[in-house]
Amino acid sequence: MENKIAKASTAIEQLTALDISNQSTHAEIIRKCQAVISALQDPTAVVAEALASVTKHPCLVALSNLGIFEKLAGSNEPLTAAYLAEESGADRALVVRLLRIAAAWGIVTETGSETYAATGASRILAIPSAAAGLRVNSLPKYLQETQYRNPASYSNGLFQYHYKTDLGSFEYRAADEEWMRDFNLFMTIPNNAGKTWPETFDARGRIFDAGFDINPAAPLVVDVAGGVGQDLRLLKSHLLHAGVKLAQGQLVLEDQPHVIENVPTDMHDEDFTYVKHNFFAPQPHKGARVYTLKSVLHDWADDKALEILRHITESLTPVYSRLWILDRVVPEAGADKSLAWLDISMMAIYGALERTEEQWRALLGTAGLRVVGVQVTPNYFGLIEAELEVAQ
Ligand SMILES: C[S@@+](CC[C@H](N)C(=O)[O-])C[C@H]1O[C@@H](n2cnc3c(N)ncnc32)[C@H](O)[C@@H]1O
Repeated sequence: MENKIAKASTAIEQLTALDISNQSTHAEIIRKCQAVISALQDPTAVVAEALASVTKHPCLVALSNLGIFEKLAGSNEPLTAAYLAEESGADRALVVRLLRIAAAWGIVTETGSETYAATGASRILAIPSAAAGLRVNSLPKYLQETQYRNPASYSNGLFQYHYKTDLGSFEYRAADEEWMRDFNLFMTIPNNAGKTWPETFDARGRIFDAGFDINPAAPLVVDVAGGVGQDLRLLKSHLLHAGVKLAQGQLVLEDQPHVIENVPTDMHDEDFTYVKHNFFAPQPHKGARVYTLKSVLHDWADDKALEILRHITESLTPVYSRLWILDRVVPEAGADKSLAWLDISMMAIYGALERTEEQWRALLGTAGLRVVGVQVTPNYFGLIEAELEVAQ
């Protein structure tokens, strides 16, 4: 009992020392609150919550299939169960029971008896690509059938099992225009509500402060698998804001052909070089100052990640070029629910994983790269900076 009180008191002390008006402390504040809960919560309540979470997922899938998150997210007013039932064709009593679960997990808000409003989480689940992620739900059966081997194959895993296909997730989805549109749009969701990643990781300083003469014959930055250019746009505005003059061709966006062809008009930037590039083929742009891989390698298990990395490694100019991996860095202990969820999602969809710093270092070392810096935000999003390992 005393131990519990001591742990909770320490966490409360640390909590009160944090500045709540500073957005970058919010993840830490939430962790401290969770530490207080963990210290004080009765062990039976911990087990009860874990078991209760089993019902959460199927109920969210059902609500998503009924279009209820979309209805709530699209309404300025709270909606009643009777209205939602009529609109979706489900029984009102069932809608109430499903939404009770969603409200208990903070996915919707109950504003009164049988009346509901959207939260930020319902708005995310209203996005079709997020709803599609919910539906990949054959995990327990698949793990049992594969004798609980750790899934690590892009082309022969849970995704293929669930969708009864031989195709990998990216190839399977490529044919589905609507899904791809939603996915690319989903990728433009900001990672942290406050600063953009180029600000958080001081992109300008990292590029220019090392004192290199910038090679005008090569690009400054190549964003490999950069989607529809969301991150390169953030980088461009960060650099311009810092007074950097950019010449045409210095910023290169690479992605799959159907992604590049479908860059929305309002996101097109005439200063970018758009390149249809398969990252399993040799890198067409050599000797850039920086290559970025943002939220890319977490889609791939080590075998494929190494193939991607080797093509970039071959393009690096020794000492001058850098690779920036912008991705999650899993702590050795204490990952929160959402990071643990993301890791399992990567396993389910791509046979992939979120990596610890040790796993990143091992992967990069095998690819012939030397890590020169790791910066991780409180939300576990990190920049791992690497350069070519050169024999001394
Ligand atoms: C999770 S998204 C990340 C996009 C972007 N970097 C970001 O952070 O928003 C993964 C990206 O990898 C791209 N991709 C998948 N397979 C690819 C391939 N073989 N060659 C090039 N890009 C590929 C997808 O089209 C998608 O844009």
